[in-house]
Amino acid sequence: MVSSATRPAQVLILGTGIAGLSAALKFARGISRPIQVTLVSKADAEEGSTRYAQGGIASVWSKDDSFEEHKNDTHVAGAGLCHENIVNLCVHEGPDRVKELIELGVQFTKLVPTAADSTEGFSLHREGGHGQRRILHADDLTGWAIEKALLEQVKATPNIRLIEHYVGIDLITEGKLFKRWRRPGRCLGAYLLNIRSGKVETFGADVTVLATGGAGKVYLYTSNPDTATGDGIAMAYRAGAEIANLEFMQFHPTCLYHPTARTFLITEALRGEGAILKTLAGDEFMSRYHPMGSLAPRDIVARAIDMEIKRTGDKHVLLDTSAISSENLRKKFPNIYETCLSFGIDITQKPIPVVPACHYTCGGVLVDQNGQTQIQGLYAVGEVACTGLHGANRLASNSLLEAVVFAHRTVAHALPWLQTPQFDSETPLPAPLPEWDVGHAVEIEEQIDIAANWLEIRSLMWNYVGIVRNDRRLLRAERRLEILRAEVDTYYWNFLPSLHLIELRNLLTVAELIVQCALKRQESRGLHYTTDYPDRDDQNYLSDTII
Ligand code: FUM
Repeated sequence: MVSSATRPAQVLILGTGIAGLSAALKFARGISRPIQVTLVSKADAEEGSTRYAQGGIASVWSKDDSFEEHKNDTHVAGAGLCHENIVNLCVHEGPDRVKELIELGVQFTKLVPTAADSTEGFSLHREGGHGQRRILHADDLTGWAIEKALLEQVKATPNIRLIEHYVGIDLITEGKLFKRWRRPGRCLGAYLLNIRSGKVETFGADVTVLATGGAGKVYLYTSNPDTATGDGIAMAYRAGAEIANLEFMQFHPTCLYHPTARTFLITEALRGEGAILKTLAGDEFMSRYHPMGSLAPRDIVARAIDMEIKRTGDKHVLLDTSAISSENLRKKFPNIYETCLSFGIDITQKPIPVVPACHYTCGGVLVDQNGQTQIQGLYAVGEVACTGLHGANRLASNSLLEAVVFAHRTVAHALPWLQTPQFDSETPLPAPLPEWDVGHAVEIEEQIDIAANWLEIRSLMWNYVGIVRNDRRLLRAERRLEILRAEVDTYYWNFLPSLHLIELRNLLTVAELIVQCALKRQESRGLHYTTDYPDRDDQNYLSDTII
């Protein structure tokens, strides 16, 4: 065995979106002692929520903008629950992190620079809740531009080992290994399923980073890819970390409504350029709900659409793009133009049918200003985490910003410790960690029950824990989830782990946590709206919900 003074420091990062890739690059490049970064992706590395981000990254960039205005817009959207120190640091550190992305090769869309140009050459979009143009973007495919550039850098970095098609099952903590401990102790790595071989492998680590994204798949309709099953949140919860604010699931107001389309996002930037929401009868309804009209914060727009759909009995509303020239629609939104066209909708001629769908998990694993969870050695970055930036409702395009700011802070916090020869642990690595114990589990014969349970969870969450809630429906959801819990636990202990079984278990855990959080908050605030308590109650609920 190599002594702990000379062996390479081991960093395990789960997730290959913007948060995981940024953290991996910073760990690999920022340390003077040997380091081995293992970067794990559940599917192909580029598959995850980042690549589907259309809008962009919010950052104060123009001379017409200011840190104060960005902070204020973030607080207003967050409905009183954003943490002031976190908003401050994200907004102030944002421009430096964006510059790093540009240095790493991200091609944000440029304007032709002119003397009067105040954006230093970059085109800036505006989205709901923003008082200024401050969103750097790569046409309407920003996430893809970021994912591509960072992944290319990762693949060229020798001390990053990228492993694809592995999924986390559980974190390994001192508390779990030495069962006498009441607290989790240090995180020592994770058990991962090699999805292709079906074998469970043990990954020891000095530092483990969850960058597994959100849990949009817990709802029947979502803009998220299939990978968004809340794995990191569920793993951290099982390991004993605190989880916060899961009642604040964000519904994006405008996803394409089409009988044969998988949910496809229609970026808010279209509304920033002048597109307007209307009912099928042509009523421009948003002005009745908010002074910012179609550009109101997202929670308000999604709820207004939900109300209009219920009021009119229509299946969707319309996004009227006629205020934007055909040339600009094709040039600035090529992805939306082409995708809609493939469904027979020419957006230069016709309005786009849209509905809300679950889009972003504002709560998650509770972390401090350095991305650290309460479990020593375990960090969480990106959508999986609850940093305090988003409060009760995330301001559009603040999520990519949060991911890069917190990836940077996580690495800055963990590196000094990794650089010390003696790791502060009672079981310094590489102590042999126990292998995964399969017990009496056997191969699962039929997938039908798993698929049926998936659908049941997602349907009941949509019907009972959606945009508009009440206690009766939440309690109904809680009772049904209890029944599902008994069934899923039985499969879990009796059958060998498979990707779908692991995801089902995680999805169920996150659904239970969302309902628990929602029942605790007996008021309406931001994304949590309940008809039983329609008003905001600052006296009793001006704080995070912590489980
Ligand atoms: O509308 C959008 O482009 C979404 C942006 C975001 O979720 O931040």
